[in-house]
Amino acid sequence: MVKKTVLFFMLTLSLMSQDIYERKCVPCHKELPTSLDQMFMSYLSLYSGEKNVKAVLKYYLQYPSKSMTVMSDLFIDSYGIKNESNLSKKELNEAIDIYWEKFKVFDKLK
Ligand code: HEC
Repeated sequence: MVKKTVLFFMLTLSLMSQDIYERKCVPCHKELPTSLDQMFMSYLSLYSGEKNVKAVLKYYLQYPSKSMTVMSDLFIDSYGIKNESNLSKKELNEAIDIYWEKFKVFDKLK
């Protein structure tokens, strides 16, 4: 049953593959050694709850800074702090909603 559910989600995800998150977040993150789902888990463990995670994430993407990052010093020393997002607030909300939906699902299946 769980296997079927996972398969179903994988299929759905691959069918929706051209959303704003896939276009604007994933390509750049593909180059990084820490995956977006690992970053998601760091946020989830630090700021529990959908509202908090989304709010902090949105803020970080607009104003990335060393004092707020969830990444290790080692990671930041190698890859630096990301640039401010050039997406509009509406696009950011949309991308973050997709990001949340995507990994929240995997979290529940574990
Ligand atoms: C141009 C490249 C690029 C794009 C586009 C990009 N990121 Fe990132 N992102 C990075 C880099 C590099 C880091 C690691 C440095 C850092 O955390 O500031 C990072 C870090 C993060 C982190 C961890 C933040 C933290 O606390 O350090 C999250 C979560 C994240 N990105 C989500 C997203 C989402 C969601 C999008 C799309 C709206 C996105 N990123 C678009 C390059 C990018």
